[in-house]
Amino acid sequence: MKKSPPRLRSQAWFDNPDNIDMTALYLERQLNFGFTREELQSGKPIIGISQTGSDIAPCNRAHLELAKRVRDGITAAGGVPLEFPIHPIQETLKRPTAMLDRNLSYLSLVEVLFGYPIDGVVLTIGCDKTTPAALMAASTVNIPAIALSSGPMLNGWHNGERTGSGTILWKARELLATGDIDYEGFIELVASSAPSTGFCNTMGTATSMNSLAEALGMTLPGNAAIPAPYRERGQLAYMTGKRIVDMVREDLTPSKILTREAFENAIAVNSAIGGSTNCPIHLNAIARHIGVELNVADWEKHGYDIPLLVNLQPAGEYLGEDYHRAGGVPAVVAELIKAKRIHTDALTVNGKTIGENCTGKFASNREVIKEYDKPIKKHAGFKMLKGNLFDAAIMKTSVISEEFRERYLSDPKDPNAFEAKAVVFDGPEDYHKRIDDPSLGIDAHTVLFMRGTGPLGYPGAAEVVNMRAPTDLLKKGVHSLPCVGDGRQSGTSGSPSILNASPEAAAGGGLALLKDGDRVRIDLNKGTADILISKEELEKRRAELKAKGGYTNIPESQTPWQEIFRANVEQLSEGMVLKPAVKYQKIAQ
Ligand code: FES
Ligand code: MG
Repeated sequence: MKKSPPRLRSQAWFDNPDNIDMTALYLERQLNFGFTREELQSGKPIIGISQTGSDIAPCNRAHLELAKRVRDGITAAGGVPLEFPIHPIQETLKRPTAMLDRNLSYLSLVEVLFGYPIDGVVLTIGCDKTTPAALMAASTVNIPAIALSSGPMLNGWHNGERTGSGTILWKARELLATGDIDYEGFIELVASSAPSTGFCNTMGTATSMNSLAEALGMTLPGNAAIPAPYRERGQLAYMTGKRIVDMVREDLTPSKILTREAFENAIAVNSAIGGSTNCPIHLNAIARHIGVELNVADWEKHGYDIPLLVNLQPAGEYLGEDYHRAGGVPAVVAELIKAKRIHTDALTVNGKTIGENCTGKFASNREVIKEYDKPIKKHAGFKMLKGNLFDAAIMKTSVISEEFRERYLSDPKDPNAFEAKAVVFDGPEDYHKRIDDPSLGIDAHTVLFMRGTGPLGYPGAAEVVNMRAPTDLLKKGVHSLPCVGDGRQSGTSGSPSILNASPEAAAGGGLALLKDGDRVRIDLNKGTADILISKEELEKRRAELKAKGGYTNIPESQTPWQEIFRANVEQLSEGMVLKPAVKYQKIAQ
């Protein structure tokens, strides 16, 4: 006897003999839209397409076109597409920070996936926070899900040189500060880096997170790096649409893909690509929602000793088109497989393991993707630091420059540690106001601190820790000072800052106790960062701060969401997730 196929989730809406009244109501409005009863009642998988592209989200705007190819693929495989918008996030446009909206977009997508007749979903991803928001929601709900990137922009060019999005800004603001270019030249230089639709063409948070979505197994192979305008992008959209229909038939849910092994694979890939310091926050958040144990220490344990293989800005020279032509993520994973740094059995959305997908995919350009034993840098992962300043912070060691190494890490007796004077800023406005103030006495042996910029202090945590040196020092050729803070740094920045310090000053972290002129010691070997004061002095300052009501340099919430966010959010080391959300796991019925 022929086995009848398992009932689909959507049939509880459209074909429910126990509740024909509601079935009729559900059907009439969808029929009104133009669907036929055959499409909705004959057991065809209903596939959501969560649309992140819009006029205010240019990085993901390609999805407005790509969704047509996704629909074609879904229909060809016997499914029914249902496209819907989700809360938009544009990294560069949203105030106070797009990071604030990651959890809002997550919440809204959970509600749609849970509350509507959707059997599987194509998650359109791209700009920084759109990727983690989508994967976090798919984790909570746990219906079959596949992600599709919008793809990086074409390479930017200026006077014959590659200009990378975001990264060029850090150079341009120095040129402007030293008078080498004027305002017009400044805008022109920065804008040259963005020549087409797509997300940042550098290895910023967008390319990093899209690469990690692929390394986690949540996209078809090759998805992360195909530039947005290339024909392969449309073809992959079609294949993604086709594949999700079969994933529903196979009941291939995120929890079967997002295993502990998959996260360890993604950590390894993040080191090899020179990925963004925002990635630990996002991956730890996805892990929290799917119920996999993962913490900041895992990033050092599984990622620190992995070499840098991908030569993309900001750690290297090239951009997104070069990354794609050199083989993209499969070529990187192939190198890591050869070095036995990948769990090859981890399952991916195409039903094959990552080992089956990537083994032997060699890079076609060794300038851009290096061999494992001929890397750009050894030990390219994150170092975790802790001490009396904070319990956890990370440093991207792969971007430590020669200048930085010579100035701070060249004591032969103690080559991985340095002591310096601290100058502290309370938020970005304070920094902009005072960075060129000579009375601060900032010299080439100063560490700049930024506090009040964590998830509570600056709701969502600001990308402001990488501060430029004062103009005087820039003119003397001192380009980078060590920066430490409880906020974040743009993934497009090449500064070796110490970031994401948790707990933040506003949550009672040690940064709140720091004073201008304090000596601090950073030891990269031991993984420590401390204010060099006695325990008694530290306790005295803590008592004084408590008497003042804690760290108070925190702006009022400006919107209802900012207030709700602050009341429920965890620290960066914990993924900045919403506390009450984590207990809802695998909720699809
Ligand atoms: Fe959207 Fe960089 S600003 S990807
Ligand atoms: Mg950013």
